[in-house]
Amino acid sequence: MVDSWVNSAERIGSDLHLELSGGGSRRAALIRALRAAVQDGRLAPGTRLPPYRSLAADLGVARNTVADAYAELVAEGWLTARQGSGTRVAERAAPPPPARVPKRSPSAPARPAYNLVQGQPDAGSFPRAAWLAAARRALTAAPNEAFGPGDPRGRVELRRALAGYLARVRGVRTDPERIVVCSGFAHALRLLFGGPGGGSGGGVLRGPAAVEAYGLGFHRSLLDAAKVRTVPLSLDEHGARVEELADVAGPVRALLLTPAHQFPTGGPLHPARRTAAVDWARTRDGLIVEDDYDGEFRYDREPVGAVQGLDPERVVYVGSVSKSLSPAVRLGWMVLPEHLVDAVVTAKGQREAWASVPDQLTLADLIDSGHYDRHVRRMRQRYRRRRDHLVTALADRAPHITVTGIAAGLHAVLRLPPGTEASAVKAAAWQGVGLEGLSDYRHPAATASMRAPDGLVVGYATPPEHAYAAAVEALCRVLPPSGEGEL
Ligand SMILES: Cc1ncc(COP(=O)(O)O)c(C=O)c1O
Repeated sequence: MVDSWVNSAERIGSDLHLELSGGGSRRAALIRALRAAVQDGRLAPGTRLPPYRSLAADLGVARNTVADAYAELVAEGWLTARQGSGTRVAERAAPPPPARVPKRSPSAPARPAYNLVQGQPDAGSFPRAAWLAAARRALTAAPNEAFGPGDPRGRVELRRALAGYLARVRGVRTDPERIVVCSGFAHALRLLFGGPGGGSGGGVLRGPAAVEAYGLGFHRSLLDAAKVRTVPLSLDEHGARVEELADVAGPVRALLLTPAHQFPTGGPLHPARRTAAVDWARTRDGLIVEDDYDGEFRYDREPVGAVQGLDPERVVYVGSVSKSLSPAVRLGWMVLPEHLVDAVVTAKGQREAWASVPDQLTLADLIDSGHYDRHVRRMRQRYRRRRDHLVTALADRAPHITVTGIAAGLHAVLRLPPGTEASAVKAAAWQGVGLEGLSDYRHPAATASMRAPDGLVVGYATPPEHAYAAAVEALCRVLPPSGEGEL
């Protein structure tokens, strides 16, 4: 039985938009409005209607007008009235909803049977109980002013929690004053470089920007939209070849990197390259934008700290909860050089328009209470097990395929025999295995020498726990057999 109008004590009513329009008496107008609400499904069968007095007060009519209207609709069969259970919409009063032909929206492609597309953590592992408990604690303790218009820098509780957390876990050097809360890396890019959704002033940094030859196309398209030209840098086993910056024509002053775990090829940026990048920024008055998208998920090697720790005045460090909790939460943070704080806050606007304050307070509590660390540790163990499962299965079933980029993160790269990537992606799709080829991530201006060998990007965090083993099985079935490919 639907009981959405009032709670059982019948004290707090929910809202229903009723317009008493048209000619005739108020009673007749109310009957018409209620009948229409039942007919078009706004009032579902079984819904309990508000007591006479509350609806009368809401609509500014006499209590008797409501009582009469209810009685009329009961007589017509639209409503039922029973002692002790109030007035409800009759169970079969509403016509069945029209059959809906499922429509495929362009932004929601069909989900493959075995989803190994990189990009999201296991959605079934979102820490619902810990998040709810943190929200309860945070909202109970929050001062009233927290529910007013938000400060565009973000709540100080969250900025404080982040300053401590990022220093402890990622070696970031900051204080809460240099942190600006945002909705994630994509939002940070918009604030830094302008473009749609980038706030006022056309961005804080100027293009062109140097980027890794392989990266997320979505981020490149945000820069394109901001009219920022991007210049690709080659990648090798040590990460981006920062030395190429010396040969880039034009005034490149920004460098976008994924130093902890190159996206998507998977290696850390070599220490010498980290230093070289910072040296470049110092001598060229440049700025590094550090995308630390999955920095907490490392397995086999010593943690790689943030490049930001080398020079906080030359690096904008950006992180978010998109890999650690969920990309649906839309919370991220920028740790800024001091001289950029005001400009970024100005770009964001006078009032917080992006990151919900209750969510910010909840995340602050989650971090301060230790539950965020606990969740990340638990997920790290789970993803490590998944990665090991993948590596073992491939060693067994496809020993000719090398797996790389697996010391960290939530995805792996499978190196394929030359010339087999496109057919492997097609075969996978045909068998219901969702994944992408490495070339999908290549910068359109990457030269022939920048091209990585054929490969598949496999997101091993994406399937739910119970479906993972079957997804790996399905993957093994679609891999090109040994001996296939160009020689
Ligand atoms: C390379 C890379 N950077 C950053 C992010 C995070 O983006 P956002 O914080 O906008 O969700 C992702 C995806 O989760 C990513 O793949």
